[in-house]
Amino acid sequence: MTGPEGVRVAADATLDVTLTVNGRETTLAVAPRTTLSDVLRDRLGLTGTHVGCEHGVCGMCTILVDGEAARACLLFAVQCEGAEITTVEGLGSAGDQHPLQRAFSHHHALQCGFCTPGMLMSGYDLLAGGTYDEDTLAEDMSGVLCRCTGYRGILAAVADVAAACPDGVPAPRAAAPAALVGRASGGGAGSPAAGPDDDVAAGAEPVEITIPSGPPTVTVDVASTLASGVEDVWAVLADFERLAACLPGAEMTADLGDDRYRGTAKVALGPVSLTFDGVAHVVEHDPDAHVMRVLAQGADRGGSSTRAVIRLAAEALPDGGTTLRAGADVHLSGRIAGFGRALAGDVSRRLFEQFADSVDTAARTGEAPAPTSGPSPFRLLLGALRARLRRVLRRRRR
Ligand code: FES
Ligand code: FES
Repeated sequence: MTGPEGVRVAADATLDVTLTVNGRETTLAVAPRTTLSDVLRDRLGLTGTHVGCEHGVCGMCTILVDGEAARACLLFAVQCEGAEITTVEGLGSAGDQHPLQRAFSHHHALQCGFCTPGMLMSGYDLLAGGTYDEDTLAEDMSGVLCRCTGYRGILAAVADVAAACPDGVPAPRAAAPAALVGRASGGGAGSPAAGPDDDVAAGAEPVEITIPSGPPTVTVDVASTLASGVEDVWAVLADFERLAACLPGAEMTADLGDDRYRGTAKVALGPVSLTFDGVAHVVEHDPDAHVMRVLAQGADRGGSSTRAVIRLAAEALPDGGTTLRAGADVHLSGRIAGFGRALAGDVSRRLFEQFADSVDTAARTGEAPAPTSGPSPFRLLLGALRARLRRVLRRRRR
C-alpha cells in the first residue's frame, strides 16, 4: 500500500486510486478525504462492509488490506493505492461460503447481523495470522463490538474453525467480486477515472456493464397473459424504442449503437423519488425463440445505484394470446437498497406488471405508448403494501 506522498490537491479535486478489491483491479477518481469504507460501499457497491462509529472503535468496518485486518473507516482511499483489499463479499458467497461463514451459521453467531462482516473478517485475520489461542480468544475478538448476540456463538464459531483447520484457515474465496462498479483500470493510463454516476451522467461512452456476481437484492419473476399474438408482442420487444416506452417512468435518450442505449428512469417509493441515468445493453436477442436478455445499470444523483439482468420471453398461447415472462436479478445499493428486499421486490413486480400491460397495448395498437411521467409514487407504494397485506392475511387464514 503506497500513499500519494507530497501530492497537493485543491479541496474539490479528485485523485485516481487503483485498488484490487476481492481479486479485481479497479481505478476510481476519489476526493482525498474519502474514506475507504465510503469508497467500498458507495462507489463499489460492497455494502457488506458496515459502518458504525466511523472513528475506529466498533470494528464493523473491518476488512483486509494486503492480508491484514484494518478499519476501513480510518483509511483514506488514496492511502490504499495499489493495495489488495478483501471485504466480506470476497470471503465467500452464498453459494460458496467460507468455513467461517458456515460456522457462524451453524452456531447462530448473529442476531441482527450488523457486526457479522466485521466479526468474520476479524476472525479470519486471527486464524490466518497464526496467533490463535483458545485462552485469549475473547480478548482477541474484542476489537469488534456486538450489541445483540452475547458473543458466545461468535467465539464458538471461530473456535470450531480453528479446531477444524489446524494447518491454517482456507484463504478468502475472493474470486467473486460482489459489485465492482467503478471504472476498470483498462480505461486508459492517465485518463480520469470515474464511478458509474459520472459515466452515465457525463454522456461519455459507457463502460462495460458489470453485473455483481453475488446474490441479487431482488429477484423478480412475473408472467402476464396478454391478448395480443406472440409476433405482435415480439415486434414491440424487438424495437427498443417502443420497449423503453412501455417501461413505466423510462425514457430512451440515445441509441449508442451496438445494441446499447442510454436513458433515464424515474422510480418513486412513497415520498422518495429517484431519477436514474443509465445504460442498457441487449446481449441476447433471439427472434425465433422470442427471448431476449438485457443488462442494465443506472445511478441517481442521491447515491442510489442499480444493476440488473433482465430476461424477457414471449410464448404463444393456444388461444392466440401470449404469455410474457419477465425475470430480473436486481442489485441495489445506496438509498434505494434501504427500502428492504421485500418492498423493493413488490414494487419491481408491480412495475413489470405495468410494463406487460403497456406491451399488450402497444402490440394491439402497433404504436409506442405515450411516454409517462412514471407511476404515481403513492399508488405504487400503496399497491405494493396492499398486495403484501393481502398475502399476510391469506397466510393467517390458512
Ligand atoms: S465504523 Fe470503523 S471502527 Fe467503527
Ligand atoms: S449480531 Fe447484532 S450487533 Fe452483532
